[in-house]
Amino acid sequence: MNDDLDCQKYWDETSEEYQEITRISIDDFHYGPLLPGDKEVKALPEITAGMKCLEIGSGAGQNSIYLAAKGADCLATDISGEQLEHGKKIAEEAGLKLDIRRAGLDEINKQDFGTFDLIHTTWAMPFAKDQEQVIRKCAEMLNPGGWLIVTTGHPIFAGEWIMLDEFEEGLFLSNYFTPPGEVRFTKDEENFVRTQQYPISSYVNWILSSGLNLKKMLELEPIELPILSEEEIVQRTPYDSPVWRDMYKQIKNVPFVVTYMAQK
Ligand SMILES: C[S@@+](CC[C@H](N)C(=O)[O-])C[C@H]1O[C@@H](n2cnc3c(N)ncnc32)[C@H](O)[C@@H]1O
Repeated sequence: MNDDLDCQKYWDETSEEYQEITRISIDDFHYGPLLPGDKEVKALPEITAGMKCLEIGSGAGQNSIYLAAKGADCLATDISGEQLEHGKKIAEEAGLKLDIRRAGLDEINKQDFGTFDLIHTTWAMPFAKDQEQVIRKCAEMLNPGGWLIVTTGHPIFAGEWIMLDEFEEGLFLSNYFTPPGEVRFTKDEENFVRTQQYPISSYVNWILSSGLNLKKMLELEPIELPILSEEEIVQRTPYDSPVWRDMYKQIKNVPFVVTYMAQK
């Protein structure tokens, strides 16, 4: 189980490089690497002026900044102060208001944070200590009719990619029910964080037993990278980096993320 201090240390020292090598647009809502943004997917609920939104594990909160541009009242939270500082700067440069607060995923609760019309998170849940509890607490924090949008690591992609022969690559997943986690070390190798994916049915049942109605699930396919111009790539995907482009063949064949959209 991850310690918040380990998550903070790892992400504080990773933040600069993450924000530098990853193009994360504030002009669209991203679901994951090389995936079409919401302008194309059109899955987000209607964003209205004054709508209260909370992002957890926000990083620099580019998705929150996108919602703020539509008039939403956005709070971005993350364990890493460095990540949030990037967000503050990006929002200021765009002339948009973004509230930030340093908080771990497992710390979020109604008493300290209040209630919201939309709670969203993109690829941060695998770092939480207790993902089921986080879902339950988010459900408690939603106003009636409010939305929870969770994009997290797809349990199948948690397997290991291996070459079957010179030409064919495939996934080896030793255990779908407890997919292997990824371990990431801090620079001094004294601390580490481990990610944990869960079966689709676990997430669906956590959402349903929190009293939310599951409205939609997404397993998005990436944009057609090889046939698009650079301009089209920038226009169609809000989240991109050279590392992800190298992994295109893999994420084209197996979804890297899964998105759950639920309403109270
Ligand atoms: C892959 S990044 C994604 C950031 C952002 N959601 C995005 O889409 O760019 C994972 C984020 O989770 C945050 N994180 C990791 N462990 C956390 C924890 N225990 N509590 C809150 N945030 C955490 C990291 O600081 C990092 O910003």
